[in-house]
Amino acid sequence: MTTERSLVLVKPDGFGRGLTGEVLRRIEAKGYVLVALRITTPTAEMLAAHYAEHQGKPFYGELVDFMSSGPVTAIVIEGNQCIPGFRSLAGATDPTKALPGTIRGDLGRDWGMGSTENVVHGSDSPESAVREIAIWFPELAG
Ligand code: RTP
Ligand code: MG
Repeated sequence: MTTERSLVLVKPDGFGRGLTGEVLRRIEAKGYVLVALRITTPTAEMLAAHYAEHQGKPFYGELVDFMSSGPVTAIVIEGNQCIPGFRSLAGATDPTKALPGTIRGDLGRDWGMGSTENVVHGSDSPESAVREIAIWFPELAG
């Protein structure tokens, strides 16, 4: 059996709108297990590490500004295939195009703010998950 872990973030838009509970409800209803949870306002260093793959892209500056605009709920979840499974729960990156039934499709929208405010983040591969969990939960790394 190959269980795996994923790093989920309820981003500042979702945290500020009081959607952490709804995201947790969907994760638990799906059957994934909560391993760790923390509320934190990310530092510039954490975001530079977390979004290293996006440095230099046109949306990078507004992405970091958005992600540092308030607290996030950082969560580690566990379960077989939870990385692609949570990506399915989250839906497409653009909340306008994300299908109804998904977190972003049901709870997200374009607020005309410039940045793509899309409620949640989920790791996109096992390698990303290991790297991201070490950033948000150093006590779990290794
Ligand atoms: P995430 O990493 O947050 O789970 O989202 P994702 O995989 O669906 O999207 P990714 O390509 O990794 O982009 C990370 C975040 O950057 C913002 N973004 N804005 N304006 C744009 O074209 C654009 N593209 C991406 C979004 O907040 C996205 O979630
Ligand atoms: Mg991504």
